[in-house]
Amino acid sequence: MKPVILAFETSCDETAVAVVRGTEVLSNVLSSQVDLHSRFGGVVPEVAARAHVEAIRSLTHRAMVEAGLHTDDLDAVAATEGPGLVGALLVGFSFAKATAWARQLPFVGVDHMEGHLMAPRIDHGEAFRPPAVSLLVSGGHSEIVLVHDWGEYEVLGRTIDDAAGEAFDKLARVMGLGFPGGPAIDAASEGGDPKAVSFPRALSDRPYDFSFSGLKTAVATFIERAARSGDLPPLADVAASLQEAIVDVLVDKTFRAVDDTGVRVVSGGGGVIANRRLRRRLAEEADKRGVTLCLPPPVLATDNAAMIGVAAVHHLSLGHVSDWATGVDPGLRLG
Ligand code: KG4
Ligand code: ZN
Repeated sequence: MKPVILAFETSCDETAVAVVRGTEVLSNVLSSQVDLHSRFGGVVPEVAARAHVEAIRSLTHRAMVEAGLHTDDLDAVAATEGPGLVGALLVGFSFAKATAWARQLPFVGVDHMEGHLMAPRIDHGEAFRPPAVSLLVSGGHSEIVLVHDWGEYEVLGRTIDDAAGEAFDKLARVMGLGFPGGPAIDAASEGGDPKAVSFPRALSDRPYDFSFSGLKTAVATFIERAARSGDLPPLADVAASLQEAIVDVLVDKTFRAVDDTGVRVVSGGGGVIANRRLRRRLAEEADKRGVTLCLPPPVLATDNAAMIGVAAVHHLSLGHVSDWATGVDPGLRLG
C-alpha cells in the first residue's frame, strides 16, 4: 500500500501544503507572499514567518478537503527541515510535528533540495531513475548533483557566489523589473534577441561550479554606460541576452557532467527550472545525446509541498522517521 502523507513546505516565502499517495499528488495548495515582500525588493524573514503562521491552518484544511480525505486516512506527516529561513522553517516544521504527535503518526523531516531533486518523480514515474545528473537551481542554491541512487547524492559542483535564482533576482533589480526577478526576466525576454548583447559566461575555472557575481557587475555597467550614451538596446534584447548568459552556463555544465559520468538520465529542480529558455535548451541538448530529460512542470519546479511529500515517501519506505527531538536546520546541505 502506498502511504498517504500530509506535507508542509515553509522554507521561504510560500506557505505550501500537499497530500500525496506515493508519487501521486492528491492536493497541492499554496499561498504566495510575493505581494507582501515585493515592496522591499526581497524576502523579509520576520514578515515571512508571520505570514506562514496566518496561512498554515486554513491551507491545511484546504489541502485535506481537496484530497477528499480525513486526518484518519493519513499514514505520516512531513515537513521541510532545511535549508531556509529559520523562522519560516519553524512554522511549518512545528505545525507538522504537532499534527503528527496529536495523531501519533510518524513524522519525517525533509531536505528542501532533496524535495526539488525528487519532484520529477511525480510526472515522470519510472523514467526518472538513478543514475542521473540533476541540475538544482533555486533562489538560494545552485548545484549539479550526481544521483547514484535515491538518497545517495554526490554534489559535483555548486555556486561559489550567487545562486542562479539570486542572479536573476539581482539582475531584475538592476533593470528595474521588480521581484521576484526570474519570472520577470523570463517574461521581459519574450521576442528579444539572445545574441543582442554579449555578456560574460564564467565557464572555465572549475568544471561544475558556478559563479554569477561577475555577470551582475557586467550587466549593471553595461546598462549604465548605454543609458548615458543614449544607445540602450530594447529591454527585451537585454533581458534575453542576460538570460542566455545564465542559461548557457547552466546547460554547459550540466551536460559536461552528463558526458563525463556517462549517465543516460538528466533531471532538474528548483524555481529557475521554470524558466522557458532553460527548459528549451536542456531539451535540445538531451535530444542531441539521446538521453532522457525529466523536468518537473513549472508549478512543481518552484517551491511546493508535493515534492516534500514525495521525498518523505522514499524515507518512509526505508523506515527513516525523524525523532521528536529533531529541530529545523537552516544550513542543511545535500550530500
Ligand atoms: O525553488 P524556489 O521556488 O525557491 C527557493 O528554494 O529559493 O526558487 C526561487 C527562485 C527565485 O530566485 C526566482 O526568481 C526563480 O527561482 N525563478 C525563475 C523563474 N521562476 C522562478 N528564474 C528564472 N525564470 C523563471 N521563470
Ligand atoms: Zn526551493
